[in-house]
Amino acid sequence: MSSSAAPVIAIDGPSGAGKGTIAALLAERLGWHLLDSGAVYRAAALHALDSLADLSDDAAVVAAFEGFAPRFEASAEGVRVWLTDAAEEREVTAQLRTERTADAASRVAAIPHVRASLLDAQRSFRVLPGLVADGRDMGSVVFPDAVLKVFLTASVEERARRRAKQLKEKGNSTTLAALVKELELRDERDANRRHAPLVQLPEALRIDSSGLGVDEVVQRIIDVHERC
Ligand code: C5P
Repeated sequence: MSSSAAPVIAIDGPSGAGKGTIAALLAERLGWHLLDSGAVYRAAALHALDSLADLSDDAAVVAAFEGFAPRFEASAEGVRVWLTDAAEEREVTAQLRTERTADAASRVAAIPHVRASLLDAQRSFRVLPGLVADGRDMGSVVFPDAVLKVFLTASVEERARRRAKQLKEKGNSTTLAALVKELELRDERDANRRHAPLVQLPEALRIDSSGLGVDEVVQRIIDVHERC
């Protein structure tokens, strides 16, 4: 069977809706592979931040992606990422989750050429027995033939609270008000960009995870998937 026959469950939604946690648990329950596409965009952002002083110059950002070849490896703690500089490989996993990287990711993600250059890397995760992929355009662009498309969302306050908790656990701290502002800015950028914006597809199963437990959300997706 070819790798394109591997089924995909696509989970899209705004920043901090819990997509990463839900996707990882779902992949574990199903015994499927996992694609954290945000990590792919974050790796691209780190590459751009290393190469350029100004991310607002689209042509310079595009030129910086010549020869960009990140390496990804699944691990129990999430995806690990390596970038290559001057033929030397270095691990950037620890820098992926900062708000600076997230902000830069949503900037480079708005550039169509950058998105196109990351398609193959994302699709290479589609391997049997199946793939759970989370991001913003998994169901609309990267895997339009996904067997199940989920739109996972939560209120901005709830998402900011979860992000604050995650950052605290990693030793980074920031105020809740600052996080709400950052999330709103990123939501606005992701939803309003011209290319592959975050949209809720008509066929997607919408789940608002505010007030729901992780297991409850995962079970709901499994129940619907079993009926697909
Ligand atoms: O999901 P995460 O917060 O790690 O993603 C960081 C940024 O990368 C998002 O705000 C979004 O702009 C971009 N992204 C995207 N398409 C994806 C995944 C992430 O545009 N499939």
